[in-house]
Amino acid sequence: VRIVQTVAVGVRSKFAGGDQTYLRDEQYRDETRLAARARLHLKYRTSRVAWPDWVLARLDLVDGAAVLEAGCGAGWLWTDSTEPVPSCSLTLTDLSPGMVEHAAAAIRVARPTVRLDARAADLQAMPFADRSFDRIVANHMLYHLPDPAAGVREIARLVRQDGTAVVATNGRRHLRELNEVRAEVFGTAVEDATVEVFGVEVGFVMLRDVFDDVQWLAFPDELRCTDPADVVAYIRSLPPGDEADAEQVVELERAVERAFERGGGVMTIGKDTGCFVCRRPVVTAVEAGER
Ligand SMILES: C[S@@+](CC[C@H](N)C(=O)[O-])C[C@H]1O[C@@H](n2cnc3c(N)ncnc32)[C@H](O)[C@@H]1O
Repeated sequence: VRIVQTVAVGVRSKFAGGDQTYLRDEQYRDETRLAARARLHLKYRTSRVAWPDWVLARLDLVDGAAVLEAGCGAGWLWTDSTEPVPSCSLTLTDLSPGMVEHAAAAIRVARPTVRLDARAADLQAMPFADRSFDRIVANHMLYHLPDPAAGVREIARLVRQDGTAVVATNGRRHLRELNEVRAEVFGTAVEDATVEVFGVEVGFVMLRDVFDDVQWLAFPDELRCTDPADVVAYIRSLPPGDEADAEQVVELERAVERAFERGGGVMTIGKDTGCFVCRRPVVTAVEAGER
C-alpha cells in the first residue's frame, strides 16, 4: 500500500512557482536573463567537471534511446557538453516557445546526428503517451511550477519502467553569499523561495511518492568571482533586481563592491546543487491490471 504524502508548498514568488505568464513572456521570453546567470557559473566554477557534462553522465545515454528534456531553456545541456551524445531521439519541451525555438536551432547545429522534436509544453500536463521515454531530464526547472508535484507525476508517467529520470535542483545554501547581498539591498529573504517550492528536501518527498528508487547526488562546486559586474548582472536578471530603479542599482553596485573588498578582490560564492537520479516509476493501476 502506497501512502500518499501531502507536501506543504511554501512561499511563492512570481519566479518561484507563482506566475507562469511572467516566466513565459518576460523572464524566459528569450535566453538573455538566463545567460547572465549561466555566465557566473561558467566563468567562475572551481569544479573539475562542467555542469552539462556532469548531468549528461548521470543520464547514462545509450544508442537509440528516446530522450525528453522538459524545461530545456536554451538547450545548453546539449550544446555546451563536451561529451559525445549517442545517436538518440531527443524531444525538447519548454513553457516558453522562444526558448524551444532557440534550443532547437542551436542543437541542430551542435548535434546534427540527434533526431529532434521540439515543442512548447507545460510539464504539468504533457502531450505524450504513458511510458514514451527511456530517459527524462528536468534541469533546474521544477521550482518554477505552480504545482511541482503534478510535474513530478508527469515525469513518472512518461518514463519507461526500466528508464531513468534526472531531476536537478538546489539546496538551502545555494548561492548564499550572493543572496545575502541581494537581501541587504532589496530586503528579500536570504533563503531562496525556489527551495521551498522544489528544493532538495521537498523534491525528495515528491519524487519518492512516484519512484521506488530516488538518489540525490551533490555537484561539488564553488564560484570564485573576480568581476563585480557579473554578480550585479546576475542579481539584476531576477526579481526584484530586474525591476530595480536607478537608485537601487547604485546601491546594489556598492553592496557588491563591498563584498569584493571583504574578500580582497574576490567574492567566493558557495553552491548547493545537484540532481536526483530516479528509477522504477511506481506501477499505475492500469499497468498493474495488465499484468
Ligand atoms: C532556470 S531555466 C533552466 C533551463 C535549462 N533547463 C537549463 O538548465 O539551462 C527554467 C526553464 O523552465 C521553463 N519552465 C518554467 N515553467 C515551466 C513549465 N511549467 N513547463 C515547462 N517548462 C517550464 C522556463 O521557461 C525556463 O526555460
